Amino acid sequence: MDNTETFRIGLGYNDKESNIRKVAKADHIAFWDMEAQKISWFEKWQKTVEWNPPFAKWFVGGKINASYNALDIHQATKSSKIAILWEGEDKTSKSLTYKQLWLQTQKFANVLKAQGIQKGDRITIYMPMIPEIIIAILACSRIGAIHTVVFSGFSASALRDRIEDSGSKMVITADVGYRRGKTIKLKEIVDEAITEKVVVHDNNSKDIRSSSFNDTDHTSCCNVRCVVVVQRTQDNNTKMRNNRDYYWDDLMKSSSDVCEAQPVESTHPLYILYTSGTTGKPKGVLHGTGGYLTHLHSTFRWAFDIQDNDIYFCTADIGWVTGHSYVVYAPLLCGATQVIYEGSPDYPNASRMWEIIQKYKVTIFYTTPTALRMFMKFGDALPNSFNLDTLKLLGTVGEPINPKVWRWYYKTIGKQKCPIIDTWWQTETGGMLISALPGIETAELKPGAGGKPIPGLDITVVDDAGTEITDGSSKGHLVIKNTWPGMLLGLWGNNTQKYKDTYWSKFKNCYYTGDYAIKDDDGYLWLQGRADDIIKVAGHRIGTAELESSVVRHPDVAESATCGIPDEVKGEVIVVFVVLNETATMHKTVEVIHKEIIEQIRVDVGRIATPKQICIVPKLPKTRSGKIMRRVLKSIASQKEVVGDTSTLEDGDQDTVNEIKRMFEQQSKV
Ligand code: WTA
Repeated sequence: MDNTETFRIGLGYNDKESNIRKVAKADHIAFWDMEAQKISWFEKWQKTVEWNPPFAKWFVGGKINASYNALDIHQATKSSKIAILWEGEDKTSKSLTYKQLWLQTQKFANVLKAQGIQKGDRITIYMPMIPEIIIAILACSRIGAIHTVVFSGFSASALRDRIEDSGSKMVITADVGYRRGKTIKLKEIVDEAITEKVVVHDNNSKDIRSSSFNDTDHTSCCNVRCVVVVQRTQDNNTKMRNNRDYYWDDLMKSSSDVCEAQPVESTHPLYILYTSGTTGKPKGVLHGTGGYLTHLHSTFRWAFDIQDNDIYFCTADIGWVTGHSYVVYAPLLCGATQVIYEGSPDYPNASRMWEIIQKYKVTIFYTTPTALRMFMKFGDALPNSFNLDTLKLLGTVGEPINPKVWRWYYKTIGKQKCPIIDTWWQTETGGMLISALPGIETAELKPGAGGKPIPGLDITVVDDAGTEITDGSSKGHLVIKNTWPGMLLGLWGNNTQKYKDTYWSKFKNCYYTGDYAIKDDDGYLWLQGRADDIIKVAGHRIGTAELESSVVRHPDVAESATCGIPDEVKGEVIVVFVVLNETATMHKTVEVIHKEIIEQIRVDVGRIATPKQICIVPKLPKTRSGKIMRRVLKSIASQKEVVGDTSTLEDGDQDTVNEIKRMFEQQSKV
């Protein structure tokens, strides 16, 4: 922690709202009521919040529409303003005005209706970063359908789980997506996900996961009746199934561009977004409409100090929550112009972001510490060879940022004139909860610190017993003591118990974030990483349980434990420990088993979960009650001298620890 160096921010852009903190502190409910009035409602709410802990319903009785707030409200004043400046990985580009986006969204909303989609129906979106993904999302919310976007790096199996769990009737995809120059056949992955083929193994066990579109022995699984395919390429090699698969352009051709936005209840679900937790299956985080939009509209203005002539660029993929909140909804709610890049930040080379900032005269840049660490490795000459003078504000999200990287961002990219906002939040919180807010106040910035809670939020740090830590330096659990409008409605599938257990049972009357933090004497929160079994690889959230349930599906694996270890660029990387069945190595080499396990993870979870290392061990360290001690494995894999408290280890397991250490060292050398 570095408290000595601070930077002043908040260049007095907009101090109109500078008494916000006082108002919010006096009565946070009245405060959010006031904030909600800044967006557009069809009918005003009767009650600001119905707080039946742990369930919150915001703006009860109010009627609203997300797509209306993103598009219709701008037509009178900003119809010719550019909403999206899209840059393809192949350097093609495209732009859409607010009017064009509005008309396209209405057309596609009519397509959905023509396919029988109604309010409350779920639609899975599995698309690359192309403008159509935004149109698809807004068309869903326009008619009250619930979108569930699945990151296009997830495998067919992961996609299938999400389609099934959400009960989606439709999948919207593209023929292909581009990722680092590679063509990924997204439509084929969708086919694999929704086409079921029963395979009977020698031992008579059935595996319905392996499926093949070409096989005649298939049936359509799930509720999916329609697949809409955007053509990203011009080659017509995509296999389309009659009466199920349709090209986007064909459907749009005959569709009207008038579709009134349907008013929905403030608490109507806007979307489901699956995210990793501490169990094998990802949870469907459910967000509502009125509260969520209010939260985004306020935080976007406060944090980014957005002005009419700003060019905003967030590098997040729409498949993750940052993309939902601060690429799709918030910028459009605020009528901003934004740049969207199709590819990875470092493709085709490490200067792509700087080239884009120069080309589009970007003023606000929001990215991840992983991307920054990677850019930093290439030195200053690359960014220095571009004109980055238009930048006025920089942001980060997704993982803790190390002070060294923060300073590099501040000096080399921001030329010591741009405030950096380090925004902390989660899929579950809907929007930012901790950040510096240059749009409303001046403050000191401390490199590496997340800042203070946003107005209206009561966030603190407690010890294991739930007592608030006030010494200004001890690490504890980050908890939230009141409700906020972007808070998740719950988990999809009426999973009330799981919702309560995950977020509300560890500390009384507090939302448990799963993060460690330190609160310093000035009230700044310094985020210290996850306290639970979630690994953050390049900012992507991956559960150890999810990984382990994949690894043990490999026929030669008896048991598995996974953990994350620090990595210079990605923040954390995955290490997998496996205990093999006795006969495993009789017919296969260790190298083959390694490869197969990696493949297994790629099939079940996706390539983002590819482990850095696999270590075969004779036994896993366990407590006397049989719980795997991942903490012990983590220190072995991090090559830390001390393995922490091992007194709860099963009798005689100290030898196991020593053996694992030896084997890990041996296998790392391979
Ligand atoms: C981590 C991403 C430190 C944290 C928006 C949180 C951060 C998890 C920060 C949520 C930050 C997010 N500093 N850590 N500024 N922002 N995190 O759901 O561990 O993908 O709990 O949402 O990311 O990840 P999620």
